[in-house]
Amino acid sequence: METKTDHTILKTEIEKMNSAVELKHLKKSFKDKHVLIDINLKLAKGENLVVLGKSGSGKSVLIKCLVGLIDADDGELIVFDKNISETSSDELNTIRKKIGFLFQSGALYDSMSVRENLEFPLRDQKKIFKAELNKLVEEALADVGLSEAIDKMPSELSGGMRKRLGLARTMILKPEIMLYDEPTTGLDPITSKEISKLILEVQKKYNTSSIIITHDIECAKITANRIIILKDGLLAAEGTFKNLEKSEDKWVRSFFE
Ligand SMILES: Nc1ncnc2c1ncn2[C@@H]1O[C@H](COP(=O)(O)OP(=O)(O)OP(=O)(O)O)[C@@H](O)[C@H]1O
Ligand SMILES: [Mg+2]
Repeated sequence: METKTDHTILKTEIEKMNSAVELKHLKKSFKDKHVLIDINLKLAKGENLVVLGKSGSGKSVLIKCLVGLIDADDGELIVFDKNISETSSDELNTIRKKIGFLFQSGALYDSMSVRENLEFPLRDQKKIFKAELNKLVEEALADVGLSEAIDKMPSELSGGMRKRLGLARTMILKPEIMLYDEPTTGLDPITSKEISKLILEVQKKYNTSSIIITHDIECAKITANRIIILKDGLLAAEGTFKNLEKSEDKWVRSFFE
């Protein structure tokens, strides 16, 4: 683990905070490929946690286990103090609704307009009136600075605008936990910076707790309250941007160069 003193201070701070998510001894292998060996992690309420690691180190697998897209082989997952393995399917549905997941691709529906893309996640909310629906859609678009695109089709949007729309569509359900997989990949540095700032604004406005996977060190710098680095199925380092950037470990520093 990273420089002991800093790390200890951080750990103590995190321990004191209420956690949104806790992972205990999470394990996941695909056949004989051990991707996650023993992951222990706490995401504090309101925290932005950035996950770094080389390609193939298991970052996406980690958050897919968290949302239940992949079944972990072993370990405990605790979301808002509820142990997932001990919840009924109703409870599990309620918990799942609190978690938003922004896929790398944005996963937009290209045959639907911007407005329809935003209405789609709300389709199950039976008692929602048209006026309220409009208000939610408009607010979600305003949050990401995309108000004027409401009647456009996704194909008419730039890469950055598509990311914004993806974010708006996830945020419209007001998730308490947000998971971002490479939110700035494929964007130019200026647009990446805008998206990173948007992630921070969203966290502040709604007090969401977020896990952000990224290769984009500028994004990490803007968004992270804390950073972890995955290696060989374990957490190889943990700290703030400042203390990891100055780490004595060359390998840790290499992520920040
Ligand atoms: N469904 C799957 N079946 C088999 N192997 C998988 C599956 N999903 C992931 N893996 C393997 O698990 C390892 C970790 O994959 P993962 O997608 O989590 O990497 P990553 O850290 O997100 O990489 P990148 O930075 O390139 O996105 C890889 O070796 C990958 O091939
Ligand atoms: Mg990945």
